[in-house]
Amino acid sequence: MPFVGAITRYLETAAPAHVRTAILTAKKDEILSKSYPYREEMKKKDYESHMAALQVELVKMLWDLKATGKRLAVVFEGRDAAGKGGTIDRLRENLNPRSAYVVALSKPDEREATQWYFQRYVDQLPGAGEIAMFDRSWYNRGVVEHVFGFCTPDQRARFFDQVPDFEKMLVKDGLILIKLWLSVDRAEQLKRFLDRERDPLKQWKLSKVDVDGLDRWDDYSAAIRETIERSHTKTAPWTVIRSDDKMRARIAAIQTVLTAVDYARKDKTAIGEIDDKICDGPDMLD
Ligand code: ADP
Ligand code: AMP
Ligand code: MLT
Repeated sequence: MPFVGAITRYLETAAPAHVRTAILTAKKDEILSKSYPYREEMKKKDYESHMAALQVELVKMLWDLKATGKRLAVVFEGRDAAGKGGTIDRLRENLNPRSAYVVALSKPDEREATQWYFQRYVDQLPGAGEIAMFDRSWYNRGVVEHVFGFCTPDQRARFFDQVPDFEKMLVKDGLILIKLWLSVDRAEQLKRFLDRERDPLKQWKLSKVDVDGLDRWDDYSAAIRETIERSHTKTAPWTVIRSDDKMRARIAAIQTVLTAVDYARKDKTAIGEIDDKICDGPDMLD
């Protein structure tokens, strides 16, 4: 486990004082982010009953996608430990994995690196009656590849030039495209990394990029801001979800999907109002 220990070391020696204090003084269930609109996590009972109702709606939605031949792609983006994986798990929990599948590509191999940047993602787009959930996506080029120098400035400029047209082509062709950006506060991210480091079931999630990224918080922030700004279009807008409370974030993400897709026998009461204090457009990032 090569990176175990690195997170604790960062907390003790390098983390900004306010981040360290927030982590060391937090009470149980307290939200670390001072600017988050709630002080505590939502009640587990409320989460579970709402989630159960949303699961029924998701099953109805997939049924309808099958019946009508619609195609759905949901892009999950956000910093490491923002909660992409956990949200995707809840979204697909009761869906047939053959129709509702996850796309989590690793870094491009030698041949892929020579192809059109979007090419390998195009291969993974859904057919009729399918839902593709992208755990990270072509947006790697806007953020992580830039922060770590895995792409050249020219390649990134080309990406920004192409991405609005690329997405417009997909949407004009009938694909339902939903783009979700999960956002976490710095102390919350570090706390999640610490949890991963201490939990043998989660240690596999820690990577070199996570560890080396700790010192690059501000570079990430700038890259994220620029990426969202340049790719928030009328045909393919971003929904930003503040994910410091995982439960509220998962509910808002699923509500966003259910609201965006037209399907038979939709129960709006079961879906409920989306909490616009944590889930909205790019302004949520500030
Ligand atoms: P994850 O978020 O899945 O835990 P990491 O945090 O390790 O993965 O990496 C973040 C993203 O950066 C991944 O999508 C990974 O494929 C990408 N990445 C890592 N190394 C490279 C590289 N050398 N070139 C391009 N992309 C890379
Ligand atoms: P899980 O609860 O295992 O479904 O985790 C969902 C996501 O939340 C993970 O991919 C992590 O990014 C993050 N995470 C995992 N454990 C914790 C935790 N104890 N506290 C906060 N976030 C966590
Ligand atoms: C997340 O938790 O946001 C991702 O799915 C996992 C990761 O960031 O490593």
